[in-house]
Order: sequence, then C-alpha cells, then structure tokens
Amino acid sequence: FDSIKSALEDLRQGRLIIVVDDEDRENEGDLVGIAEYMQPEAINFMATHGRGLICAPISTSIAQKFELSPMAEKNSDPHGTAFTVSIDHTSTTTGISAFERFDTIQALIDDNARAVDFNTPGHIFPLIAKDGGVLERMGHTEAAVDLCRLTDAKPAGVICEIMNDDGTMARVDDLKSYKEKHGLKMITIEELKAYIASNHRVA
Ligand code: 5RP
Ligand code: CA
Ligand code: ZN
Ligand code: ZN
Repeated sequence: FDSIKSALEDLRQGRLIIVVDDEDRENEGDLVGIAEYMQPEAINFMATHGRGLICAPISTSIAQKFELSPMAEKNSDPHGTAFTVSIDHTSTTTGISAFERFDTIQALIDDNARAVDFNTPGHIFPLIAKDGGVLERMGHTEAAVDLCRLTDAKPAGVICEIMNDDGTMARVDDLKSYKEKHGLKMITIEELKAYIASNHRVA
C-alpha cells in the first residue's frame, strides 16, 4: 500500500486513488476522487474501469442543506450504507453522461445551489458520512469525506467500486496489478484511521 501522504498529493491534483476497506468488512476497493479537484474524465474512468455504482459521499451538513432524505425509511443494508434519494442537477438532460454526473456532483459543493436545483430520482447516489468519519465508521463513505477534509476541500467526494473483468469484485491481489496498470495510489481505511488518530485532526 502507498502512504496516506502520497495519496493526498494525488487527490489534490485531481487524480483518483484506490481505497480498500477491511477484509472482514466489504473487502472491496473503491476508486475515490475529491469533488472540488476532479474533472469529468475521472467519472468516465470510473464508469469504464471501475464499473461499480458511482456514488457521492457527502457530509451531513451538505445533506441537510439540500434536504436529501434517506433512500429507504428503514435501512437494512448489511453495512448500513447511508444512501439518500438519488439526484440529478436541473441543468442536466438525462443525467447519466460523465459530464452531466460531474455537473450534478459539482452542484453539491456550489455555495449558491439550493434544494430546488436538484431533480429526484436521478443518476447520482449521495451517501451521508458519519460526522466522526472513519473513527466512527470504517466505510468508504467516511473515508472519502475524511480525505476531502485532509486535502482542504469541501466535504463531497465521488466513489465507485472496482469490479474485475469477469464480473467478480476485485480483491487486494487483483487491485495490486490494477493500480500498477493505471498508475494509481492505493491506501487502506485502516491506515487512514491510524493516520487521523495519530496526528491529523479532521474537521
Ligand atoms: C455504494 C456501496 C459501496 O460499498 C460504497 O463503498 C459505500 O459504502 P460503505 O461506506 O458502506 O463502504 O455500497 O455503491
Ligand atoms: Ca456496499
Ligand atoms: Zn436514465
Ligand atoms: Zn464500500
């Protein structure tokens, strides 16, 4: 795995990184980008080479600002992943192109945007991170929002699970060759948690 510091440098430059959760949790690697720094090409990369579900981890403050309510009244997801209703920015046509999904995500960090600027349902899936970040919940959702804070960005990210060509989920061994092939940094949530716990305050 790569150092948290080197991953933060890539994120600041708008690059995607791979974030792996615990083997006894999902045991998945997600591509992660920072909304404020990334470009539409990163969404296209996620759709082409990630092939999971493209979601937007956000802080509770952003969720409240746009009145994004939970997708399910009672969340029975095994990991309690905090999906809200899905959204499209009102400027979009069908909402699904890399560029339109990018625009929807950018609106989430636009100080001038309001709840009425989003249509629902849509093609972006916001996920609400716990306020305590990975110290409170070791999910990709919290990892992404913590990484925003560590890179001085507004608290919205973009994530997408990485699937192997054969349709199975990529595990750490698969991800090692994947990261070399695409030149991406790879970190674990466990190491991110240790990094935050040891010396770096979040929020
Ligand atoms: C949404 C998911 C992913 O697992 C994503 O990584 C967010 O979930 P979590 O925070 O539970 O890891 O299910 O596609
Ligand atoms: Ca999941
Ligand atoms: Zn559609
Ligand atoms: Zn996950």
